[in-house]
Amino acid sequence: MINKNKPILAIKGGHPVSNVIIPIHKTYLDEEDFKAVEEAMRSTIVSGNGPACMEFEKRLSEYLGVKHVFYTNSCTTALDLAFRAKEFPPDSEVLVPNFTYTSTALGPLLNNLKVKLVDVDPDNGNIDVNKIETSISEKTVAIAPVDYAGNPADMDPIVEIAKKYNLYVVHDTAQSIGSEYKGQKTGTLAHVSTFSFHGTKNLTTGEGGALVTDDDGIAEKVIYMREKGTNKQSFLVDNKDRGYYEYVTIGNSYVQSNILGALGLSQLKKIDWMNARRAEIAEYYIEQLKDLPNIKLPKITQGAKTNWHIFYILVPPEHKYWIMDALRAEGVYANVHYTPLHRNKFYQHLGTDEELPNSMRFFSGLLRLPIYPSLTEEEMKKVVEAVRKVCG
Ligand SMILES: Cc1ncc(COP(=O)(O)O)c(C=O)c1O
Repeated sequence: MINKNKPILAIKGGHPVSNVIIPIHKTYLDEEDFKAVEEAMRSTIVSGNGPACMEFEKRLSEYLGVKHVFYTNSCTTALDLAFRAKEFPPDSEVLVPNFTYTSTALGPLLNNLKVKLVDVDPDNGNIDVNKIETSISEKTVAIAPVDYAGNPADMDPIVEIAKKYNLYVVHDTAQSIGSEYKGQKTGTLAHVSTFSFHGTKNLTTGEGGALVTDDDGIAEKVIYMREKGTNKQSFLVDNKDRGYYEYVTIGNSYVQSNILGALGLSQLKKIDWMNARRAEIAEYYIEQLKDLPNIKLPKITQGAKTNWHIFYILVPPEHKYWIMDALRAEGVYANVHYTPLHRNKFYQHLGTDEELPNSMRFFSGLLRLPIYPSLTEEEMKKVVEAVRKVCG
């Protein structure tokens, strides 16, 4: 039982654990990053798809062990491209986990496809692999699993089902750079994977993303589509087109500034260190909180290694918002993210709480705690102290 009336609680007028708010997230940027950006600026090569962007793509492809990497201006545009490149008939259906960010659904919707929501594992928010087959219809063409919190979706059964029904798999790896599933990095487990380098992500270029694939056919289309439907890539790289380039297909502008490419390169150099620091923090939280009967700790997919993009606890749903307020009063910022898609006005026609019960179970207990590479030992201890004080 949670005792809400303890006078020592800051929410009841007691002393807070921390006088300064410990935020949920802080972007990690260091001198090397500042220098990389400054050098790119001083080079005056600042437009899209410049040499630093291409070098970032090359290094990222080596890091992930994947053939093609396209650095884009967001994961949302990478998801759009992933579906654009396939040209599925309008109204074809794509299976999307109900617990994800809007962008996973926007990828299909921007391409005139329909979204079918699939319920998730109530303990970790990833697509429930046992609910996929029953969601497949004649119109299903693709599935878009998501790695919530950086914890990989259970990709083996997903890929197996996809093969059985001839489905295209777009793995939304927005949150999982550096995570692994059965010894393989995320980004190598599906036809296409899409990363995010938004300011909140483990590797950041402020805004940004990447579409990665081993499929030469998809890569060939993406090369043109991300550059306004032009063959400018060849003009930039091998000059086959003798100093000019042509408008060859439909497209949009999905490229990133060379300044951000330079930032991506310097961030990539330290991604393993940044992820290892997150793992240390997560392990400390788990060790210090595992005996608390009122909360549940994150469930990691079997055979997977998470990059700890997010650390969450699952609390008794009836006390969730009180716990959130009580933690904030103690100086520890806790928050709730995401809301299940069907709980948003734009998606509410796609399902009900009764049809998607496990998304609601996961969501109704979910509270995120601070985790980022620059979190100090002292702050880690305060987070634990606050959670124990409020939930103990
Ligand atoms: C699962 C998922 N997909 C897509 C996105 C969108 O990423 P971006 O902001 O790079 O477009 C996010 C952002 O948080 C996300 O969590």
